[in-house]
Amino acid sequence: MRQAGRSLPEYRASRSSGSILQAVRDPALAAEITLQPVRRYGVDAAILFSDIMVPLAASGIEMDIVAGKGPIIQTPFRSERDLARLGTFHPETDAPYVAETVKILVSELSVPLIGFAGAPFTLASYLIEGGPSRSFALTKTLMRSDPKLWASLLDRLADMVLASLRSQVEAGAAAVQIFDSWVGTLSLRDYKTYVLAASHKVLTGLQDMGVPRIHFGIGTGELLGAMAEAGADVVGVDWRIPIDEARLRVPGRAVQGNLDPAVCLAPWPIVASEVRKVLADAKGLAGHIFNLGHGVLPETDPGILAEIVALVHEEGRADAEQDSFRTGP
Ligand code: CP3
Repeated sequence: MRQAGRSLPEYRASRSSGSILQAVRDPALAAEITLQPVRRYGVDAAILFSDIMVPLAASGIEMDIVAGKGPIIQTPFRSERDLARLGTFHPETDAPYVAETVKILVSELSVPLIGFAGAPFTLASYLIEGGPSRSFALTKTLMRSDPKLWASLLDRLADMVLASLRSQVEAGAAAVQIFDSWVGTLSLRDYKTYVLAASHKVLTGLQDMGVPRIHFGIGTGELLGAMAEAGADVVGVDWRIPIDEARLRVPGRAVQGNLDPAVCLAPWPIVASEVRKVLADAKGLAGHIFNLGHGVLPETDPGILAEIVALVHEEGRADAEQDSFRTGP
């Protein structure tokens, strides 16, 4: 459950007034914030407290992450000259606090830690738009009008993302997830022409590390097959498509998802019924990781999230018992 912390009073107390980037640069604090939802909800994995913008900020791109809005870049990426501003990212020297946080967590957690990074397209969209966007007009215009510059930018971002993920795994992360949150704005053809190669570089560049790779985006129903081709072991999906249908579109991969985060705002009996629907859709699939289809909404009641985790565990156990009854010991 991404950004599960945002719904927690203990998270708001720990964060106090500093920016999220300051919190990420403090390993003891970042580790504590990572642990908070794990303690409270008893989830089966932890996701590192960081942000997809961290490698860019650490390599000298000036930005703020504004609460309620998202990342704002001082000087957006517009031309060939801006490539020079994107230095090479060396995780050990540019952002040593990330590996430090991972090491603290690995020694304290009894569940696996998921490391993560933004995918090249989503990072490029923030760099080019200068902040969040609905239309991605500037990104798509640069992509089409200067495909060479676009390819160079995505390739540089792929190197940065890969370096970041490799160092998280070296420090002890047990799995990695790349967030291509906004790639669903593209057609399948454009995804294949402009994005697939860079995401493929990241995912295949992790192959030798032997950790599961999760590839997530929202609004990606039509892109799922191509996202699977990019090389992930698990494809994350939002709530717009049933999880069994998603599974058919990603042959040989596991799926992660896909409860609508807004469902968590409804009264419990409705939430329970929606959770059961996801589990029913996923019944019999070779690999399914129950999750929300996107991040936790800040106004979510933490008590509801705790009940969801308990219900999923309960139903999962019931299923496992039934399976062992059917197949014998
Ligand atoms: O659960 C976790 O807290 C794990 C860490 C995590 C954060 N961001 C911390 C965070 C993860 C996995 C992310 C990923 C991230 N960051 C994505 C991809 C995931 C997704 O939601 O699709 C994106 C697009 C970003 C960029 C970003 N950072 C946005 C859009 C925002 C939201 C701004 C807001 O307040 O609504 C952020 C801020 C952010 N990153 C918060 C957290 C906990 C909340 C604000 C804060 O605490 O200051």
